[in-house]
Amino acid sequence: MPNDVSRRDFARLAGLAALGTGGATATAQERPVTNEPAAPGRHFPHDFVWGTATSSYQIEGAARADGRGPSIWDVFTHAPGHIEDGSTGDVACDHYHRYKDDVGLIKELGCKAYRFSIAWPRLFPDGGSTPNPKGLDFYNRLVDELLANGIAPYATLYHWDLPQALQERLGGWRSAETAKAFADYAGYVAEHLSDRVKTIFTVNECGRFIPFGYGLGIDAPGLKLPQGEVNQARHHVALAHGLAVQAIRARGRAGTQVGMAENITACVPAIDTPENIRAAEIATRELNAGFLNVILEGRYTDAFLAWAGKDAPKFTADELKIISAPVDFVGLNIYAPQAYVVASDNAPGFQALPMPSSFPHMSSPWLLVGPEIAYWVPRFAAKIWDLKTIYITENGTSSDDKVSPDGKIHDLDRVMYLRNYLAQLQRATAEGVPVKGYFLWSLMDNFEWVFGYRQRFGVYHVDFDTQARTPKLSASFYRHVIEKNALLA
Ligand code: BGC
Repeated sequence: MPNDVSRRDFARLAGLAALGTGGATATAQERPVTNEPAAPGRHFPHDFVWGTATSSYQIEGAARADGRGPSIWDVFTHAPGHIEDGSTGDVACDHYHRYKDDVGLIKELGCKAYRFSIAWPRLFPDGGSTPNPKGLDFYNRLVDELLANGIAPYATLYHWDLPQALQERLGGWRSAETAKAFADYAGYVAEHLSDRVKTIFTVNECGRFIPFGYGLGIDAPGLKLPQGEVNQARHHVALAHGLAVQAIRARGRAGTQVGMAENITACVPAIDTPENIRAAEIATRELNAGFLNVILEGRYTDAFLAWAGKDAPKFTADELKIISAPVDFVGLNIYAPQAYVVASDNAPGFQALPMPSSFPHMSSPWLLVGPEIAYWVPRFAAKIWDLKTIYITENGTSSDDKVSPDGKIHDLDRVMYLRNYLAQLQRATAEGVPVKGYFLWSLMDNFEWVFGYRQRFGVYHVDFDTQARTPKLSASFYRHVIEKNALLA
């Protein structure tokens, strides 16, 4: 744009002002799905699973209802100074009481699948072996409501809300005993829900809650342990995953599908030459060696052990066998690129380039924009670990979206983000990468951990004073994609 023409002048000259850039597009939120054909080659596979995702502590509220015990997040949020806006998940989206309406929202999107998490302390309030039947009842009601609406339940067993009692009694994930308690809980869930819940995720994002909760002290339980203890805690989570897989197979219905959902370290070739593509593949394996790779390969890589040195986790051959119990699928949570990679002559063969500070990001500063991870990450994962079924278990973005005077929410940045990531995902499926489904994070604005309610990730806006839910423009966008099973031209 020439320097002497301001943006406002440009808008006027181009006639944009006459169109009313502020509000006219709002009608898109109400526009019915049209019959325009999708552009050729932009379809997803015919049986692709479209879903949305949430987690218990972030949405349920009802923190003390029906015998639920405290979790580490209750304790952490109630201690001053941990959460940016001083909030807690005590009420959150009050989903515990509003789950029927929320299932209605999922249905409105056209989703046929919903990924939620089960709060361990609702089922076992003190982390022991005495179940709380009222806690299970809630998930029975939720699952029945989903099924009655034609939505398949996908349940996650651990999305960070460990029973506080286990933290106090055992030191949480510092102890292998917590892994055993987790397996008992997993078996119990499988026994009671797998007649209706066909897909179970053991653990969500070990790659987040261990470094943030045990190393950096940012997440619950707020510990800042030395690296060796962090590595050991991660090993216990891997063990918990393996023991849970075994317990679910032993106590659940035959055919129950089991896997994990991990925030895989997302590696991308900086420039996609064959050498860099190979280097990014090596980087994907090595930078995920502490969790995904040990589960899927049954060993810690040499480079990982060398890098960890004296801080390497202590493990036995038996434990590695348990950890690598075969899974039915792998869930990948993908948000931001973490390493742009070039080939290197130094072992193991890659170099991650430094990120310029001007790299574009979404409303959350950590959420760098890299749609191409939706192509490369599942492609590398499928190749390295010979995977036959991958789910994108989370993808989405925060936005500074606000309710406009007309009552609508024009989250154009979220639409931009989703469109670009989904385009890359479509490219992957078109090339035969076995991605079988996609779960948008998140159904509605919710408690965003250390950021409290200040960062909004939902396609439905939540007014936390009134609990009113309002669809954003992105809800319309997603509904269109699902309806067409394709990106529109
Ligand atoms: C987590 C979610 C979180 C989202 C956005 C993921 O790492 O699983 O709980 O809300 O990212 O930060």
